[in-house]
This record gives sequence, structure tokens and C-alpha cells, in this order.
Amino acid sequence: MTAPESTSLPEARRELFETKRVAPSVLSADFSRLGEQVEMVMEAGARVIHFDVMDGHFVPPITVGPLVCSAISGQVHAAGGAMDVHLMIERPEDQIEAFAEAGADCITIHAEATAHASRTLSAIRDLGCLAGLALNPGTQVETLEELGDSVDLVLCMTVNPGWGGQPFIESSPGKVERLGAVAGDAVIEVDGGISADTAGTISAAGAGVFVAGSAIFGADDPAAAYRSIAEAAGAE
Ligand code: DX5
Ligand code: ZN
Repeated sequence: MTAPESTSLPEARRELFETKRVAPSVLSADFSRLGEQVEMVMEAGARVIHFDVMDGHFVPPITVGPLVCSAISGQVHAAGGAMDVHLMIERPEDQIEAFAEAGADCITIHAEATAHASRTLSAIRDLGCLAGLALNPGTQVETLEELGDSVDLVLCMTVNPGWGGQPFIESSPGKVERLGAVAGDAVIEVDGGISADTAGTISAAGAGVFVAGSAIFGADDPAAAYRSIAEAAGAE
């Protein structure tokens, strides 16, 4: 991963994305006690907290915005972690500044959601964040080739975006391998259907960050679930 010249992202937080790591998605957490849920997974070892933003347009559901991001980002940073913000919204260029101010460390936009992916990725770096590009299951790997120099993290959706708890798309490891061939220094993140059963194969294919929502927060013992997925992925 190449550090952008204008970055203000602390090196320790940047480095969190460079080691294999499970990123709990708070989409499946109990939002009535969000701080406690974040504390629980961080005590289990998590350092990257995945934050899903949906606008009711790019995907049907509406979730949360900068206000909730800022409500937990201080806690996450104080515990040595980073906020991984996944924008499933149309025209993400209009919202990146608000999320940077709300404590985002990595901001990921969808290639399908903007006509201006290149400009928006550069603007994310200028805001001092890592720039992520997400690809839907139906989006070609070649999309990354045109934008590679602007991307710190490529998010390969391993379900169709919009909902937690969907089954892992079985062809995903092949796509991750093909992304790896064109990703350069960018880290490959996978999101959707990641569990102790699926993490090993996708890790072997080259994924570095493993987002898991329902497999962690839907488990009887989320800390144990986190550790078993990390073990299956060969992650920290
Ligand atoms: C879905 C979101 C995911 C979601 C994954 O569109 O981007 O981050 O939380 O949920 P699971 O791990 O349950 O598939
Ligand atoms: Zn996500």
C-alpha cells in the first residue's frame, strides 16, 4: 500500500489494514447497546470495525450515517482500532467529507455508484483516509485496472450488497484471485457470508481483510466466533 502524500492517517491505523484481519460488521450488532458490542469484539482482538452505510437508493435498506460513525469512532481509536466505512450509497462524493470528519479511517465507495470514481478516490486520500473501491458480484475485475493507482483497498463483495446473513457466493475465491493479479499494492477485503467455514478458502485466494457480521454478532458467543473466523482465515 502506497502512502498518499497528503495523508494524516496515523501509521499505526494504516498498518492495521496490511495484516490479515477479521473486521466485525456492526450491521448485525444490537444498536441499542452499540458501544458495548464494539467493546466486546475489540476485547476479543478485533481492530478494524466495519461500518455499513446504506441510502435506500443504491441498495434498498437505509442504515446509519456520520452521526453514528462519530458516536463510536472515538472509542474505536482509543482502543487502537480503525473505522472501515463501506458506503453503499449513490453519489458517495457528496458524503466523504462528513465521514472523514466523523472518524473514518478507510472510506470505500462502490464503482457502480458514481460516475466519478477516480476523482472521489483521490478526494478520499486528500481527506487523510485510505481509499477503498468496492465491486458488486456482477462487476468486472477489469474495473480495478483503470483505477488501481488510486486504490488502497479493493472490496470484493461476496454477496449482493444490502443485507447481512446472506450465503457466500461460491465463485468468489476465483474472483479474488483475478483481482489479486491486478490489485498491485491494494489490500483485498471480502464482505458477505464470511464465517469459519468460508474464511479459509477466500484467505487462500488472497483476501486480507475479512468482514463478518451475522457470523459474529449473531453467535451465542461473539468473541469465540470472532476468534474462530480469525483462526480459519489465518488472521491476527
Ligand atoms: C452487506 C454488508 C456487509 C454485511 C455482511 O451488504 O456490506 O458488511 O454486514 O453481513 P454478513 O457477514 O452477515 O454476510
Ligand atoms: Zn459492508
